[in-house]
Amino acid sequence: MIIQVEDLVVVLKEQEILHRVNLNVPQGKTIVILGQSGSGKTVLLKTILGLIRPQQGKLMIFGQDMFRIEDEHLFNIRKKTGMVFQSSALFDSMSVWENVGFSLLEHSGLSEKEVRKQAEDTLAAVGLDDAADKMPEELSGGMKKRVGIARALIGRPQLLLYDEPTAGLDVIISASIIKLMEKIHAEFSTTELIVTHDLAIARNLADHIAVLHEGKILAAGDWEQLKNSENEFVRYFLNIGEPYEKENA
Ligand SMILES: Nc1ncnc2c1ncn2[C@@H]1O[C@H](COP(=O)(O)OP(=O)(O)O)[C@@H](O)[C@H]1O
Ligand SMILES: [Mg+2]
Repeated sequence: MIIQVEDLVVVLKEQEILHRVNLNVPQGKTIVILGQSGSGKTVLLKTILGLIRPQQGKLMIFGQDMFRIEDEHLFNIRKKTGMVFQSSALFDSMSVWENVGFSLLEHSGLSEKEVRKQAEDTLAAVGLDDAADKMPEELSGGMKKRVGIARALIGRPQLLLYDEPTAGLDVIISASIIKLMEKIHAEFSTTELIVTHDLAIARNLADHIAVLHEGKILAAGDWEQLKNSENEFVRYFLNIGEPYEKENA
């Protein structure tokens, strides 16, 4: 198991945000947490990254217990993990390749020339062959997202965490990002944890889906299982866009 979450409780400012969350992310699988805005998706990702301290429960990542982890191990986990932020979070004053190579420029001791080469290779892998010298302001939303993905990918992580990878993108661009995520999974044999409200991601990429609502996992399974879930909210959420009250027609 790459990530193991058991009865995880997260409290922020005296408010319980995650209520006994359970989740397993097996190696090589794509797990999708589906939830509306405010359901606790980003808090869960931040907790997994070690940016928020959980209150109670169990949280193991790459076999390390996050409740008692030392900095040196946290560093190793982060090296094996790539995070794609919702906002892409690019530095406006840096070129595309400098954004992608940022962590290597800072920490790896590699020459600028070598980092640039790795950045260009990674940009090619996300479909941006000629963007290295562009500035972020010259890019469309979909291209910025690709740069954010390249930045997560440059260290060749085993685990990729995506926070709302298609939020704010139109349907066509979203579909191209979903295709790219699928390609990366196949090409780099990564394990993914994706948090999103986008049903298309759950339908197209997930080996396993968990529905998060108000900090609780309401149901988990594959797409077909969840569409027929016993939970009314889960059924409603997954069937949005389908004929309603079909049986009365
Ligand atoms: N640093 C924080 N302090 C207090 N409450 C927070 C903090 N971050 C998020 N929350 C609350 O936690 C809940 C879940 O937020 P979040 O994980 O960002 O939702 P999502 O990513 O699913 O839209 C929200 O009610 C939000 O207001
Ligand atoms: Mg969020």
